[in-house]
Amino acid sequence: MRRSALLLVSVVALAGVLVGMGSSSREADEDAAAISGGKLPSGYRDWRLISVAHEEGNFNSFAAVLGNDVAINAYREGKLPFPDGTIIAALHFRHVPSEENNKVFGRSQSFVAGPATNVQFMVKDSRKYSSTSGWWFAQFDDGKPLTDKAKLKSCFDCHALNKDRDLVFAKYAP
Ligand code: HEC
Repeated sequence: MRRSALLLVSVVALAGVLVGMGSSSREADEDAAAISGGKLPSGYRDWRLISVAHEEGNFNSFAAVLGNDVAINAYREGKLPFPDGTIIAALHFRHVPSEENNKVFGRSQSFVAGPATNVQFMVKDSRKYSSTSGWWFAQFDDGKPLTDKAKLKSCFDCHALNKDRDLVFAKYAP
């Protein structure tokens, strides 16, 4: 009796581990399918932080670079090239002064995320996207996918300048 209870507990625990292991790659598959189908993947806003960036010039934006579980694990293990299932998101926002914060500081020094400008994704599937070094590039403006082929090609052309780091510019922020 005791033994069968123990066995049951072990089986349930093992199943839990297997389900847990499967979920991040299953989620990655679902998210990759959503992105290539022109939809924002569910839950990307809760992905973990890889780094931040600020662009001046025409963009004048903040970027928060987030990764799904596969991406974060690859970064932490220093894995290059990134494994299939990696998805990296760049969330862009206008770079705007904060009057409210400046009042508190007593001078003009605070800039915060303004309205969202776009969300860009890089999705790794080395077989499906072998002609673009294994990456699919996508951009969403107001939730709508960018379909301009020339613009989408320019993503790869520019990122391909960074071949040594598997086309990904962002380093894992300490
Ligand atoms: C002229 C070069 C250039 C073009 C074109 C370009 N990118 Fe990037 N991209 C960069 C650089 C440089 C960074 C890192 C700096 C930053 O985030 O501001 C970056 C960052 C990213 C990131 C975060 C991961 C990383 O590599 O750091 C994603 C995702 C991304 N770009 C997707 C896209 C998509 C999608 C397109 C096309 C719609 C695109 N990019 C077009 C140069 C480019």
